[in-house]
This record gives sequence, C-alpha cells and structure tokens, in this order.
Amino acid sequence: MSVSDEIKQRIDLVDFISRYTPLKKAGATYKGLCPFHSERTPSFVVFPHTGTWHCFGACSTGGDLFGFLMRKENLEFREALQILAREAGVSLEDETGDRSQSRRGQVYEANAAAAAYFAEVLHNHPAAQAARDYLQRRAIDATTRDRFQLGFALESWSGLRDYLSARKFDIDLQLEAGLIKHSEERDSTYDAFRGRVMIPIRDRMGRVIGFGGRVLGDGQPKYLNTAETPVFHKSHVIYGLDMAYEAIRSAGQVVIVEGYMDVIAAHQYGFSNVVACMGTALTPDQLQQLQRYTSNFVLALDADSAGQQATIRGLNQARQALTRVRKPTVTATGLRFEERLGAALHIASTPEGRDPDEVVRHDPNLWRQLIAEAKPLVDFYFAVVAGQMDLSSARGKGAAVAELAPLIAELDDAIEREHYIQQLSRLVQVDERTVAGRVQAAARTSQVPSQPRSDGHIQKRAPAPIPEETGAQAGPEIAPPPLSVAPERSERAGLHTEDYLLAHLLREPDLLIWLAGAAHEREIVAIHAGDWQHVENQEIFRTLKRWMSSDEQWDAELFQETLPGPLHGRLARLITAGINLPAANNDELRIDLLKVLVRMRLDRLKARSMQIKYLIDEATQQGEREDARDLYTVNNQVLRDLSHLQITYRNLSRVLVSQGRAEQGVKIR
Ligand code: UTP
Ligand code: MN
Repeated sequence: MSVSDEIKQRIDLVDFISRYTPLKKAGATYKGLCPFHSERTPSFVVFPHTGTWHCFGACSTGGDLFGFLMRKENLEFREALQILAREAGVSLEDETGDRSQSRRGQVYEANAAAAAYFAEVLHNHPAAQAARDYLQRRAIDATTRDRFQLGFALESWSGLRDYLSARKFDIDLQLEAGLIKHSEERDSTYDAFRGRVMIPIRDRMGRVIGFGGRVLGDGQPKYLNTAETPVFHKSHVIYGLDMAYEAIRSAGQVVIVEGYMDVIAAHQYGFSNVVACMGTALTPDQLQQLQRYTSNFVLALDADSAGQQATIRGLNQARQALTRVRKPTVTATGLRFEERLGAALHIASTPEGRDPDEVVRHDPNLWRQLIAEAKPLVDFYFAVVAGQMDLSSARGKGAAVAELAPLIAELDDAIEREHYIQQLSRLVQVDERTVAGRVQAAARTSQVPSQPRSDGHIQKRAPAPIPEETGAQAGPEIAPPPLSVAPERSERAGLHTEDYLLAHLLREPDLLIWLAGAAHEREIVAIHAGDWQHVENQEIFRTLKRWMSSDEQWDAELFQETLPGPLHGRLARLITAGINLPAANNDELRIDLLKVLVRMRLDRLKARSMQIKYLIDEATQQGEREDARDLYTVNNQVLRDLSHLQITYRNLSRVLVSQGRAEQGVKIR
C-alpha cells in the first residue's frame, strides 16, 4: 500500500471534513454546505465508502482527503502529505532517505550556505563597501536587507567555491546548484556570480532555490540569474511569494510587479502583497500558483515600458489558465451554464519613466492610489487591439471582435458586459446586437464539462444532447457506487487504466505534447491533473506537465528528484511497467492512448451519474423534492457531457478502424 493510501485509511474523511463544515448523515453519505463556495442549500457530499467528496453545486468538483486539504488550505501535495502523515502517525522517513531525494535537499543546503556567505560578506567584508553604499543609495534599510537576506558576491573567481568546499559541499553539487561554472578552456571551475549584489530567490516555503545578482553600476547584464537547476525553474518562480502569500490572502489581492527591487521596496513600505514575475511575461503556471491565494490580480506596469503591449497580450494568453466558474444563466430556452472567469485582472500604470520601486519610495500614497484605480485588463486590451488591427477593413473588424468577445463574455457582471459590448460596437462601427451575439456565442463555446481543468482548451458541446443509457447497472443500492477506490483493472498490461496511460507518458513524455495537440484538434479538453483519480498519479502528472513546459531536457532521474520521496515507489513501478509497453510510435497507438483518456473520463462520468442517481433516490425518500430536482439538473448535465464524450469515443474508434489496422493495435474495449 502506498503511503497516501495508508494515510487515507487512518484518517476518517467525515471527521476531517467536519472540522471545516458541519456534515449531516444522509443515507450512506454525509451532506453539508460546500466549504469552497457559499451556498444556502447543501450540495456538498462525502462518500465515506470510497473516501471521496464531491460538490454537486457551483464548484462541481471533488476529490479525496488530499485533494480536500490541498484545496482548502492552498497546499501543494508535498505539504499536504507532511501534514496528513503527521496526523495519521505515518512515517515518511523510509522512502525519503534515498540518494536522489537527499541530492535535491543538498542543492537547497548549498544554496542556503551560499546565501549566508553572501550576506556575511555584505555585512562585514571591507571589499563590500561599494555594495553597502549602493544599497544605501537605493534607500534599502537594514531590516529589509536582512528580511530579504541580501548579500554581496566579491569580485573573486573562487570566494564562494572555496567557502562551500571548506564546508564539504562537493564541486559537482555546486555546479548542479548553478553556484559555480565550469570552464572548458582551463578545465577549472569558477564562481558564477562576481561583483554583484546578491538577491536570494526563495520558494513558497522559504527555501533558497536560486539567486539574482545585480551589477553595482551600469554593467551588462544588469541582473544575472541562476540558470535552470533541479530546484530552479524560471517560469515557475514568483519572487517574494514566501514573504507575500499571507498578505495576499488577507488582502484578497496580489500586486504583480516586474522587478526584484520593486518587491523589496514595496515590502519595506508595508505593501506586503507584492510579488514579481522575474521580468518575463507572466506564465500560466505563475497565475495558477497565485490563484491559490486570491483571484484578484493587479499588474503594475510602467506606462512607457515598450513591453507593455506585449505583456498585456501575454496576460491575455495566460488568463486562459485560470479556473473558470460556471454560472447558471436564464435564457429564453431555459437554464444554461455559462463560463465566467473566476478572477479579476487589473492593470495599474505607473507614471511614465517611474517603476514601482520609485513610486513607492517617493510617494506611497500615489502607489496606493494607482493600485486602487487599476483598470480592468479588458480596457487595455481594447487599446492593444485598436492599435494592431485595421479597423476600417471588414477583416480587421472581424478579428477585433473575435479577440475581444471572449474577454467580454467572461466578465461576471452583466452591466459590465453591456458596457464593453457598447464600446466594442463603437470601436468597430458594427451594430450592437451583432456584437452582443458574438459575445454570447463566445460564452457558449467556452463552456466546459464538469471536470475541473487547468488548461486553456475549449470543449464545444454536442448541440442536442440525447440522454443515453449509462451502461452500468441501474437502480438504487444500499451504498452509493464507488467512484475512486478501486478503478477497474483493464486488460492493458495488467495495469489500472490510468496507470497504463501514465506509464506511457513517463516512458515517452513527448506524448503529452502529442496528446494535447490531438485533443485540441478534436475539441477534447486537454489532459489535466483532474483526469487522474489516484492522488499520487495526479501529483506525478502535475510534475511531469511542469517539466514538459520548461525547457529542460527529459531526464527520468532528475524528474524523480523533483517528486516527494514517498512517490518514488509508485514512480519506479510505473517506469518499470512502461518498459514493457509497446512504444506508441505511430498514430494508431497514440490515438488509442487518446481513447484511453476519453475512457477514463467516461468511466468517471458514469460513476458520477450513478452517484447522483443514488442521491436522488435518497432525497426522494426523504421528501426533499427541491434537492432531488437540483440533482436532476446536475445529472442531466453529466449525461450531456457523457453523450458528447461517447460520440468522441466512437469517432476515435472510427479513425482507428478506417486506418484498417485497429486489430493490430492494443485491443480496444
Ligand atoms: P528591470 O530592468 O525593470 O529591473 O527588470 P529593476 O528591478 O527595475 O532593476 P533596478 O531597479 O534597475 O535595479 C525587471 C526584472 O527583470 C529581470 C529581473 O528579475 C528584474 O528585476 N531582469 C532584468 C533580468 O533577469 N536580467 C536583466 O538583465 C534585467
Ligand atoms: Mn527599478
């Protein structure tokens, strides 16, 4: 049994969740108000038999003990694992002690030692006087310097290397941490950072993962950053998050700036909800991380920054990664769910030529005002579109509407939507009703099935859903049908269906990219963490996806190091199983994998529908007619999703048959 399974066995899910929301027994299940969204009638159900929970209301999501804690407390899997293991009295020691895990730990340690060394040099070394003067000129006080653990790297080729070597950090480790570099020419190593003010970059948990080093004068590059290492992935880093996340949560807002110094100055002046995205465009990964603390984003940009338009465009791309909420909308033909962005994106422009660092230091009140008056992204996007498209041509008008309609469609407030529809109609000189029609169409196509997802892919609905027989046994049962405890074993190499797919992905990570493309082509929602039922598979998948979106070369051993120790066992089993699988080197086998994904979703939806039927019976028996009616609505949605997926599944089978060789591929059920 895996550690996570053992933990789940020892902790009573009903007790655990009851700490957050009161639960009432209802038949074989427990019901309560959803702790993730506010509601008046309970749509949150715990299934003790399977150790799972599900919200059948607005969030329409579910999971197990781990998923619950991670979502409720905004934790990463690693953190949830630690907390729950402690509570369950399960030791994590055994598996964490292996070489690779401690290697990663060693990189953190080397970084921490380097940060201490740089700080010490800045404090005391005679040769650091210029750096001390520099910080003084920039008005960074001693408290701030220490909180951010600022330091100085001497103008020396081996100061750090010698310091670390004396403390038994070997050369390979120093290289791996990006602290020293190797010179082919002289076949020797040298310090990566020299003559720079050193800014340690820490992760959410405060561990030093890398450095930014600033030149004292006007040298180039202005900042030198740690290259990619096993613990430092630039597209993932949010500078200052360890100091800011609590303030972000309590302020209900995050302010994102571009530079290290902007963060440091903001914190010095008491604006603690400020983080930086390291000068590059915000990545979807960064937005998703921040969304764990707030849905309210303010981007502070230089008014004159040449990159402003690019940033705004980038942000518009990245926003696709944000979670949506589905809101019921009443239409002439009945109730429909429309997707709205569950986040607010605003842009604050600093006065020309002044970055946040200067504004905050010279005029904290102006800063406060700029943030308070930040304008919605869509306002800026109008300007970007107007500047880039020829609005006198029919084609340009069409393109402008196509770009802006989805943004407007996502706005939560009907009056705001109306406002921007008017604005857009004026911009392109097209009748308001036509524009409104486009916006509405955009809202409709941005509907998603009931699974949560973390990608930007869009699934269109089958136009006329036909409720179908779900194929599984019908009728009420004593206990609700299981959803996740024992996923069916398929004939695929004796693996559970989802293990089978994951083993393939681990064997050949490029498949992930292929799958995303193939899914997109067929308007299937891209594979996402929620596709996996086993929480360990979820975490392995999440890590794999993160890896694949970095520029790093695939390396199974390094990959293992990025996973928490207790997952190494499962990873090893999956990798071993993968070796014996047929290589998915042609489209048939790959499409078969896409089918496996669809199958996983079908199985899950069928099980969900069965659960709902059980709940409807329960409600009916208790005379709770309104509840039963709500559940019918939810079930219809599930059935619609199901029928759409069934069509997709059949089409995929047809693709295989038409290639005439389906029989030779892996047997398809
Ligand atoms: P800026 O040039 O705006 O830096 O780049 P800054 O923070 O205002 O720097 P100061 O005030 O002149 O010291 C914004 C961010 O872009 C990244 C850094 O993260 C920087 O904070 N950057 C910039 C680099 O990584 N390398 C560079 O050479 C320049
Ligand atoms: Mn600056």
